[in-house]
Amino acid sequence: MAQENIDIPDDFELPVGAFDIPRCYDGDLKSVIIPEGMIRDRVRRLAKDIHEVIGNEQLALLCVLKGSYKFFTALVDELSSARYSCPEPMTVDFIRVKSYEDQSSTGMIQIMGLANLEELRGKNVLVVDDIVDSGQTMAKLLHTLKENGVKQSWTALLVSKRVSRMIQVPENFVAFRIPDKFIVGYGLDYNQKFRDLNHICVMSSKGIERYKNK
Ligand code: HPA
Ligand code: MG
Repeated sequence: MAQENIDIPDDFELPVGAFDIPRCYDGDLKSVIIPEGMIRDRVRRLAKDIHEVIGNEQLALLCVLKGSYKFFTALVDELSSARYSCPEPMTVDFIRVKSYEDQSSTGMIQIMGLANLEELRGKNVLVVDDIVDSGQTMAKLLHTLKENGVKQSWTALLVSKRVSRMIQVPENFVAFRIPDKFIVGYGLDYNQKFRDLNHICVMSSKGIERYKNK
């Protein structure tokens, strides 16, 4: 069956006051655009889609830190269930990529923690990332993996932003397509804050000002 997506419309915003948000973030958020429950439901289906395409092959899951830590654990849990009868175990690896400061990319993409990249040589790798917008970070990462002899790679993305890409990158499994708004929560940060928030939210101008890097 063809994969379907969820496109969050440009004007879709749920009231923050209708959700249980930590008090420390009072006034910092404008709206909720993807509640945690919807993420959970969507990730379950995404795992089934991934299993249907990749099948019972060996699979190495690569978590791109920090932003995808929540998505990654949810996806690994669901993939474990989807691959219940699979004779090949999955493995997990972690790398760290950094490019954003305030609301924009610094243009410098740092890939860190690649000490064990050699372990991925000859493997099928599913790269699990939180967000694709310009495509630059993912392009650099996929290039690095290829250079290091990865056999085949796919990408699983929590959100894909509807903005024009500077570089086209494969978006094999996408949970949500979202408008061009700066979002936080469910692992995504604004200057390292808001990762612990369990819903995906749009920030208020007050919040943006409050946590701006001085
Ligand atoms: N939020 C947080 N981090 C990001 C975003 C965003 O909207 N886009 C790229 N990195
Ligand atoms: Mg970030």
